Amino acid sequence: MQKTVAEAALQKLVAEIKTYVSGLKGPGIASVLAGMDKWASEPSGPIKPRTLPACAHLDAALVAMGKPSLAKAIAEAQPYLHWVSYDAYPREDIGAAFADNHAFASIIGEGCPIEAVDFDLGLFIIAPRLFYRDHHHAAPELYAPLTGPHGWRFKPGDPLVWKEADVPVWNNPWEPHATMTGDIPFLAIFCWTKDTSQPAKIIPSPDWPTLENAS
Ligand SMILES: [Fe+2]
Repeated sequence: MQKTVAEAALQKLVAEIKTYVSGLKGPGIASVLAGMDKWASEPSGPIKPRTLPACAHLDAALVAMGKPSLAKAIAEAQPYLHWVSYDAYPREDIGAAFADNHAFASIIGEGCPIEAVDFDLGLFIIAPRLFYRDHHHAAPELYAPLTGPHGWRFKPGDPLVWKEADVPVWNNPWEPHATMTGDIPFLAIFCWTKDTSQPAKIIPSPDWPTLENAS
């Protein structure tokens, strides 16, 4: 059957993501690629375009990221992506600024254009100069940031470590992590390789007000 423009754009994006992730080194990369091999077939699930205010930062991120073939694939798939905010956190715990200024779009996952079970891969965008508070979850997680630098820490209260674009971050189950976005929007490929139905939880840290006032 003839592919629609939307299906072709999403398939191209998945192929570009796979090429990009294949070029990364580090823990977890192999399990992400194994999941993509297992699930990434032709898009046959629902394509329900949906946007959020954070998507206004996408163009700036695409300009900043370089990597022209991946950027082009994201731009061409963007009209068909289903962007949502992560709603498992109580708003007062995650903070209004983050709650209102991030978005993610799953491409491979349950109910996604490419159907998968207990695997979730897509794009994640956060506005500049925002702190994504300390949190953790059962799912092992890859972030492959396409822009940078952004600040990271892996223990509440620790100082931030700034990592450039294209330096992947792998979080083992229940490992704490937090992200401070830099001056350009945070755009990343994310993947939860299993235990995707268990929600993430916030880990309070007394230095949030200092970090958030500085950003
Ligand atoms: Fe996470």
